[in-house]
Amino acid sequence: MEKLDPCDIEVRQVSAGEAGDMMTFLLAHYYPEEPLTAGTSPPEPDEVDKDFLLSNVPFGTCFMALEEGRIVAAVVAGPKDAHEPEHMVEEVRKHAGQKWGRILHLLSAVESATDVCRRFNVPSSVQVHALGVDRQQRGRNLGALLMTAVAQRARDLGHRLVSVDCSSVYSARLVQRLGYQLVNTLRYVDHLDESGQQVIRPPPPHESVQTFVLQL
Ligand code: ACO
Repeated sequence: MEKLDPCDIEVRQVSAGEAGDMMTFLLAHYYPEEPLTAGTSPPEPDEVDKDFLLSNVPFGTCFMALEEGRIVAAVVAGPKDAHEPEHMVEEVRKHAGQKWGRILHLLSAVESATDVCRRFNVPSSVQVHALGVDRQQRGRNLGALLMTAVAQRARDLGHRLVSVDCSSVYSARLVQRLGYQLVNTLRYVDHLDESGQQVIRPPPPHESVQTFVLQL
């Protein structure tokens, strides 16, 4: 695999005008393989899921990597505060019965278990919601490059924490290499709905959502 030559790659903040291009990229290279999306039916993400990701662009915490003008990777991140566990419970209620509601059911359980702002005694954290690399370009460290851009931006904005729920073994390995600290592991087989059914069934090799933080 060709290794990354940083001179060939431009990393830049996603502007409002580029949000549509970022979403087109995520629909092609992120959503089809992201384990929570792939592990619930139907295969396509709900509109509210896409709208949620796009709502993070105005914070200036979303980045993309371009090579010769073409998007090869993108990351979506945004701020959260200590009220996030309660906010997530409310969101689950609002989207019950939808694919997005099932994904939030799991993410809300993760948020309640990790409660990172209170746990690390910080007023806020920048949460990474989505990270995708062009499937032809994986293994070039592009994901790490974008995670570093998010951490730099979070620091500049005065946040003291970056957090991420890694639904994929690949993103978990990646952030571990960057020095992130593991806070919690929730195995997919252990997360059940009220009737005892497994809520999300991602394909192998993904077995758990692992929450990591980077203290800035
Ligand atoms: N399938 C198979 N192998 C992979 C994958 C994959 N999805 N991702 C990375 N690898 C391999 C790479 O080829 C590389 O192998 P090598 O060492 O033999 O060259 C090795 O794992 C390390 O690759 P990285 O450089 O760490 O990974 P990269 O940054 O290129 O991509 C990412 C990681 C972004 C997670 C990518 O797999 C992806 O886009 N997946 C689809 C969407 C997804 O699941 N995103 C993460 C969900 S969690 C979240 O978004 C917060």
